[in-house]
Amino acid sequence: MDIKKIGVLGAGIMGSGIAQICAEAGYEVVLVDIAEAFVNKGFQGIVKNWTKAVEKGKRTAEDLEKFKALITTSLDNKDFKDCDVVIEAIVENIDVKKKVFKELGEICKDSAVLATNTSALSITEIGTASCRPQSVVGMHFFNPVPAMKLVEVIPGAETSEETVAIVTELAVKIGKEPVRAKETPGFIVNRLLVPYMNEAAMLYQEGIPAEEIDKAMKLGANMPMGPLALADLVGLDTLLMICDYYWREFGDSKYRASLALRNKVRAGHLGRKTGKGFYDYTK
Ligand code: 3HC
Repeated sequence: MDIKKIGVLGAGIMGSGIAQICAEAGYEVVLVDIAEAFVNKGFQGIVKNWTKAVEKGKRTAEDLEKFKALITTSLDNKDFKDCDVVIEAIVENIDVKKKVFKELGEICKDSAVLATNTSALSITEIGTASCRPQSVVGMHFFNPVPAMKLVEVIPGAETSEETVAIVTELAVKIGKEPVRAKETPGFIVNRLLVPYMNEAAMLYQEGIPAEEIDKAMKLGANMPMGPLALADLVGLDTLLMICDYYWREFGDSKYRASLALRNKVRAGHLGRKTGKGFYDYTK
Protein backbone atom coordinates (compact mmCIF):
# COMPACT_ATOMS: atom_id res chain seq x y z
CA MET A 1 0.00 0.00 0.00
CA ASP A 2 1.27 3.47 -0.86
CA ILE A 3 0.60 5.35 2.36
CA LYS A 4 0.35 9.12 1.95
CA LYS A 5 -1.85 10.34 4.75
CA ILE A 6 -2.02 9.10 8.34
CA GLY A 7 -4.73 9.98 10.84
CA VAL A 8 -3.91 10.06 14.53
CA LEU A 9 -6.83 10.10 16.96
CA GLY A 10 -5.89 11.49 20.37
CA ALA A 11 -3.38 14.31 20.83
CA GLY A 12 -2.14 13.24 24.27
CA ILE A 13 1.39 12.09 25.04
CA MET A 14 1.17 8.96 22.86
CA GLY A 15 -0.87 10.43 19.99
CA SER A 16 1.27 13.54 19.65
CA GLY A 17 4.44 11.40 19.73
CA ILE A 18 3.02 9.20 16.95
CA ALA A 19 2.03 12.27 14.90
CA GLN A 20 5.53 13.68 15.39
CA ILE A 21 7.40 10.64 14.05
CA CYS A 22 4.95 10.18 11.15
CA ALA A 23 5.57 13.77 10.02
CA GLU A 24 9.33 13.29 10.43
CA ALA A 25 9.05 10.32 8.06
CA GLY A 26 7.38 12.59 5.48
CA TYR A 27 3.73 11.54 5.87
CA GLU A 28 0.84 13.99 5.87
CA VAL A 29 -0.78 13.76 9.30
CA VAL A 30 -4.26 14.67 10.54
CA LEU A 31 -4.22 14.93 14.33
CA VAL A 32 -7.68 14.85 15.91
CA ASP A 33 -8.92 15.24 19.47
CA ILE A 34 -12.20 16.24 21.09
CA ALA A 35 -11.23 19.76 22.22
CA GLU A 36 -9.22 22.63 20.78
CA ALA A 37 -7.16 22.81 23.97
CA PHE A 38 -6.06 19.15 23.59
CA VAL A 39 -4.97 19.41 19.94
CA ASN A 40 -3.19 22.70 20.64
CA LYS A 41 -1.33 21.22 23.61
CA GLY A 42 -0.35 18.15 21.56
CA PHE A 43 0.84 20.21 18.59
CA GLN A 44 2.79 22.61 20.83
CA GLY A 45 4.51 19.63 22.48
CA ILE A 46 5.60 18.36 19.06
CA VAL A 47 6.95 21.77 18.04
CA LYS A 48 8.80 21.98 21.38
CA ASN A 49 10.51 18.64 20.67
CA TRP A 50 11.51 19.79 17.17
CA THR A 51 12.77 23.12 18.50
CA LYS A 52 14.98 21.24 20.99
CA ALA A 53 16.28 19.05 18.15
CA VAL A 54 17.17 22.19 16.17
CA GLU A 55 18.96 23.64 19.23
CA LYS A 56 20.91 20.37 19.59
CA GLY A 57 21.89 20.60 15.89
CA LYS A 58 20.01 17.34 15.11
CA ARG A 59 17.50 19.11 12.83
CA THR A 60 17.57 22.28 10.75
CA ALA A 61 15.11 25.18 10.92
CA GLU A 62 13.97 24.14 7.40
CA ASP A 63 13.20 20.61 8.67
CA LEU A 64 11.07 22.13 11.41
CA GLU A 65 9.02 24.18 8.91
CA LYS A 66 8.65 21.19 6.59
CA PHE A 67 7.46 18.91 9.41
CA LYS A 68 5.06 21.53 10.79
CA ALA A 69 3.43 21.93 7.37
CA LEU A 70 2.72 18.18 7.25
CA ILE A 71 0.48 18.22 10.34
CA THR A 72 -3.06 19.52 10.34
CA THR A 73 -5.22 19.45 13.44
CA SER A 74 -8.96 18.95 13.65
CA LEU A 75 -11.81 18.25 16.07
CA ASP A 76 -13.76 16.16 13.56
CA ASN A 77 -13.19 12.43 12.92
CA LYS A 78 -14.68 12.95 9.43
CA ASP A 79 -11.31 14.46 8.49
CA PHE A 80 -9.96 10.87 8.53
CA LYS A 81 -12.03 10.06 5.43
CA ASP A 82 -9.09 10.15 3.00
CA CYS A 83 -6.43 8.71 5.38
CA ASP A 84 -4.71 5.46 4.37
CA VAL A 85 -4.02 4.51 7.98
CA VAL A 86 -5.64 5.80 11.17
CA ILE A 87 -3.88 5.20 14.50
CA GLU A 88 -6.06 5.57 17.59
CA ALA A 89 -4.40 6.65 20.84
CA ILE A 90 -7.25 7.69 23.12
CA VAL A 91 -8.24 6.70 26.65
CA GLU A 92 -7.85 3.01 27.65
CA ASN A 93 -11.56 2.30 27.97
CA ILE A 94 -12.97 -0.53 25.87
CA ASP A 95 -16.45 1.03 25.55
CA VAL A 96 -15.04 4.36 24.33
CA LYS A 97 -12.71 2.57 21.90
CA LYS A 98 -15.57 0.44 20.52
CA LYS A 99 -17.70 3.53 19.93
CA VAL A 100 -14.82 5.28 18.16
CA PHE A 101 -13.99 2.27 15.97
CA LYS A 102 -17.63 1.92 14.93
CA GLU A 103 -17.44 5.55 13.78
CA LEU A 104 -14.08 5.02 12.04
CA GLY A 105 -15.55 1.99 10.23
CA GLU A 106 -18.27 4.26 8.84
CA ILE A 107 -16.06 7.25 8.00
CA CYS A 108 -12.83 5.79 6.60
CA LYS A 109 -12.32 4.62 3.05
CA ASP A 110 -12.62 0.86 2.45
CA SER A 111 -8.88 0.36 1.90
CA ALA A 112 -7.88 2.14 5.14
CA VAL A 113 -6.11 0.29 7.94
CA LEU A 114 -7.41 1.10 11.43
CA ALA A 115 -4.76 0.65 14.12
CA THR A 116 -5.17 0.91 17.87
CA ASN A 117 -2.38 1.87 20.25
CA THR A 118 -4.11 0.04 23.10
CA SER A 119 -1.66 -1.07 25.80
CA ALA A 120 -3.54 -4.23 26.75
CA LEU A 121 -7.13 -4.46 25.47
CA SER A 122 -8.59 -6.96 22.99
CA ILE A 123 -7.93 -6.14 19.32
CA THR A 124 -10.66 -8.62 18.33
CA GLU A 125 -13.27 -6.80 20.42
CA ILE A 126 -12.25 -3.42 18.99
CA GLY A 127 -12.19 -4.90 15.45
CA THR A 128 -15.68 -6.33 15.78
CA ALA A 129 -17.03 -2.90 16.73
CA SER A 130 -15.59 -1.41 13.52
CA CYS A 131 -17.57 -3.88 11.32
CA ARG A 132 -14.33 -4.42 9.34
CA PRO A 133 -12.20 -6.51 11.71
CA GLN A 134 -9.90 -7.66 8.89
CA SER A 135 -8.54 -4.10 8.71
CA VAL A 136 -8.09 -3.55 12.46
CA VAL A 137 -4.74 -4.23 14.14
CA GLY A 138 -2.83 -3.32 17.29
CA MET A 139 0.10 -0.98 16.78
CA HIS A 140 1.48 -0.45 20.27
CA PHE A 141 4.03 2.35 20.79
CA PHE A 142 6.06 3.11 23.92
CA ASN A 143 6.44 6.29 25.93
CA PRO A 144 8.22 8.57 25.02
CA VAL A 145 7.33 7.60 21.45
CA PRO A 146 10.12 9.53 19.67
CA ALA A 147 12.78 7.85 21.86
CA MET A 148 11.54 4.24 22.14
CA LYS A 149 12.45 1.93 19.26
CA LEU A 150 9.77 -0.74 19.62
CA VAL A 151 6.33 -1.11 18.08
CA GLU A 152 4.35 -4.24 18.96
CA VAL A 153 2.17 -5.36 16.07
CA ILE A 154 -0.83 -7.36 17.31
CA PRO A 155 -3.30 -9.08 15.00
CA GLY A 156 -6.79 -9.79 16.34
CA ALA A 157 -8.63 -13.02 15.54
CA GLU A 158 -9.95 -11.62 12.23
CA THR A 159 -7.09 -9.34 11.18
CA SER A 160 -5.82 -10.07 7.65
CA GLU A 161 -2.16 -10.77 6.97
CA GLU A 162 -2.28 -7.87 4.49
CA THR A 163 -3.20 -5.50 7.32
CA VAL A 164 -0.39 -6.89 9.49
CA ALA A 165 2.09 -6.44 6.62
CA ILE A 166 1.00 -2.82 6.03
CA VAL A 167 1.57 -1.71 9.64
CA THR A 168 4.77 -3.75 9.98
CA GLU A 169 6.19 -1.94 6.95
CA LEU A 170 4.88 1.40 8.23
CA ALA A 171 6.57 0.85 11.61
CA VAL A 172 9.92 0.45 9.84
CA LYS A 173 9.31 3.54 7.67
CA ILE A 174 8.70 5.67 10.78
CA GLY A 175 11.96 4.48 12.29
CA LYS A 176 10.73 1.74 14.63
CA GLU A 177 11.51 -1.97 15.12
CA PRO A 178 8.31 -4.03 14.88
CA VAL A 179 7.80 -7.17 16.95
CA ARG A 180 4.77 -9.36 16.30
CA ALA A 181 2.87 -10.14 19.48
CA LYS A 182 -0.17 -12.27 20.27
CA GLU A 183 -3.50 -10.99 21.45
CA THR A 184 -3.04 -11.82 25.10
CA PRO A 185 -3.68 -9.14 27.76
CA GLY A 186 -0.71 -6.74 27.78
CA PHE A 187 0.90 -8.41 24.75
CA ILE A 188 4.64 -8.80 25.52
CA VAL A 189 6.05 -5.65 27.11
CA ASN A 190 3.16 -4.67 29.36
CA ARG A 191 2.58 -8.28 30.42
CA LEU A 192 6.03 -8.10 32.02
CA LEU A 193 6.40 -4.40 32.81
CA VAL A 194 3.04 -3.73 34.49
CA PRO A 195 3.40 -6.43 37.21
CA TYR A 196 6.94 -5.09 37.78
CA MET A 197 5.72 -1.52 38.36
CA ASN A 198 2.80 -2.79 40.47
CA GLU A 199 5.20 -4.84 42.61
CA ALA A 200 7.30 -1.70 43.14
CA ALA A 201 4.11 0.06 44.32
CA MET A 202 3.62 -2.85 46.80
CA LEU A 203 7.13 -2.30 48.19
CA TYR A 204 6.32 1.43 48.50
CA GLN A 205 3.14 0.47 50.38
CA GLU A 206 5.31 -1.62 52.71
CA GLY A 207 7.20 1.57 53.60
CA ILE A 208 10.23 1.70 51.34
CA PRO A 209 10.62 5.25 49.93
CA ALA A 210 10.12 5.68 46.17
CA GLU A 211 13.63 7.14 45.80
CA GLU A 212 15.21 4.03 47.35
CA ILE A 213 13.22 1.59 45.20
CA ASP A 214 14.08 3.49 42.02
CA LYS A 215 17.73 3.93 42.95
CA ALA A 216 18.01 0.20 43.65
CA MET A 217 16.61 -0.79 40.26
CA LYS A 218 18.70 1.78 38.38
CA LEU A 219 21.94 0.75 40.05
CA GLY A 220 21.18 -2.93 40.62
CA ALA A 221 19.49 -3.83 37.35
CA ASN A 222 20.73 -1.04 35.04
CA MET A 223 17.21 0.22 34.34
CA PRO A 224 17.24 3.65 32.61
CA MET A 225 14.73 4.84 35.20
CA GLY A 226 13.24 3.27 38.33
CA PRO A 227 9.82 1.53 38.29
CA LEU A 228 7.97 4.26 40.20
CA ALA A 229 9.37 7.09 38.05
CA LEU A 230 8.34 4.98 35.06
CA ALA A 231 4.86 4.47 36.53
CA ASP A 232 4.54 8.26 36.83
CA LEU A 233 5.63 8.62 33.20
CA VAL A 234 3.16 6.00 31.93
CA GLY A 235 0.29 7.43 34.04
CA LEU A 236 -1.01 5.79 37.21
CA ASP A 237 -4.58 5.63 35.84
CA THR A 238 -3.34 3.66 32.83
CA LEU A 239 -1.29 1.37 35.06
CA LEU A 240 -4.24 0.69 37.38
CA MET A 241 -6.58 0.10 34.47
CA ILE A 242 -4.18 -2.52 33.07
CA CYS A 243 -3.75 -4.23 36.48
CA ASP A 244 -7.52 -4.44 36.91
CA TYR A 245 -7.89 -5.75 33.36
CA TYR A 246 -5.34 -8.54 34.00
CA TRP A 247 -7.13 -9.40 37.23
CA ARG A 248 -10.46 -9.76 35.37
CA GLU A 249 -9.05 -11.56 32.32
CA PHE A 250 -6.72 -14.01 34.09
CA GLY A 251 -8.65 -14.39 37.36
CA ASP A 252 -5.30 -14.73 39.11
CA SER A 253 -4.62 -12.94 42.40
CA LYS A 254 -1.02 -12.25 41.39
CA TYR A 255 -2.38 -9.39 39.25
CA ARG A 256 -4.10 -7.55 42.14
CA ALA A 257 -3.30 -3.83 42.08
CA SER A 258 -1.43 -2.32 45.01
CA LEU A 259 -3.56 -0.20 47.33
CA ALA A 260 -0.97 2.58 47.12
CA LEU A 261 -1.50 2.75 43.36
CA ARG A 262 -5.30 2.64 43.68
CA ASN A 263 -5.34 5.38 46.32
CA LYS A 264 -3.12 7.68 44.25
CA VAL A 265 -5.55 7.31 41.35
CA ARG A 266 -8.52 7.91 43.68
CA ALA A 267 -6.82 11.10 44.89
CA GLY A 268 -6.34 12.28 41.29
CA HIS A 269 -2.55 11.93 41.45
CA LEU A 270 -1.92 10.29 38.10
CA GLY A 271 1.81 10.95 37.71
CA ARG A 272 3.59 13.51 35.57
CA LYS A 273 0.48 14.53 33.67
CA THR A 274 -1.23 15.85 36.83
CA GLY A 275 1.97 17.05 38.53
CA LYS A 276 1.91 14.42 41.29
CA GLY A 277 2.20 10.64 41.50
CA PHE A 278 4.86 8.69 43.38
CA TYR A 279 6.87 11.91 43.00
CA ASP A 280 5.91 15.59 43.15
CA TYR A 281 6.64 17.39 39.86
CA THR A 282 5.18 20.72 40.95
CA LYS A 283 8.20 21.83 42.96
N1 3HC B 1 9.55 13.21 24.42
C1 3HC B 1 10.28 13.09 23.30
N2 3HC B 1 11.55 12.69 23.29
C2 3HC B 1 12.14 12.44 24.46
C3 3HC B 1 11.47 12.55 25.68
C4 3HC B 1 10.10 12.95 25.63
N3 3HC B 1 9.37 13.06 26.74
N4 3HC B 1 12.30 12.21 26.69
C5 3HC B 1 13.48 11.92 26.11
N5 3HC B 1 13.37 12.04 24.77
C6 3HC B 1 14.44 11.82 23.80
C7 3HC B 1 15.45 12.92 23.88
O1 3HC B 1 15.11 14.01 23.02
C8 3HC B 1 16.72 12.23 23.41
O2 3HC B 1 16.70 12.19 21.97
P1 3HC B 1 18.06 12.37 21.15
O3 3HC B 1 18.93 11.21 21.56
O4 3HC B 1 17.61 12.31 19.73
O5 3HC B 1 18.60 13.70 21.56
C9 3HC B 1 16.54 10.79 23.91
O6 3HC B 1 15.13 10.63 24.14
C10 3HC B 1 17.29 10.53 25.21
O7 3HC B 1 16.85 11.50 26.15
P2 3HC B 1 17.73 12.12 27.31
O8 3HC B 1 19.18 12.00 26.93
O9 3HC B 1 17.22 13.46 27.65
O10 3HC B 1 17.39 11.27 28.57
P3 3HC B 1 17.74 9.81 28.97
O11 3HC B 1 18.93 9.28 28.29
O12 3HC B 1 17.68 9.88 30.44
O13 3HC B 1 16.49 8.96 28.41
C11 3HC B 1 14.33 8.04 28.50
C12 3HC B 1 15.16 9.28 28.75
C13 3HC B 1 14.40 7.67 27.01
C14 3HC B 1 12.89 8.38 28.88
C15 3HC B 1 14.91 6.85 29.38
O14 3HC B 1 14.91 7.22 30.72
C16 3HC B 1 14.13 5.58 29.23
O15 3HC B 1 14.32 4.81 28.29
N6 3HC B 1 13.22 5.31 30.21
C17 3HC B 1 12.38 4.11 30.18
C18 3HC B 1 11.17 4.39 29.30
C19 3HC B 1 10.28 3.20 29.18
O16 3HC B 1 10.51 2.11 29.70
N7 3HC B 1 9.18 3.38 28.43
C20 3HC B 1 8.19 2.35 28.25
C21 3HC B 1 7.03 2.63 29.15
S1 3HC B 1 5.75 1.43 28.96
C22 3HC B 1 4.80 2.04 27.75
O17 3HC B 1 4.98 3.12 27.24
C23 3HC B 1 3.67 1.19 27.32
C24 3HC B 1 2.35 1.80 27.64
O18 3HC B 1 1.36 1.03 26.98
C25 3HC B 1 2.04 1.79 29.12
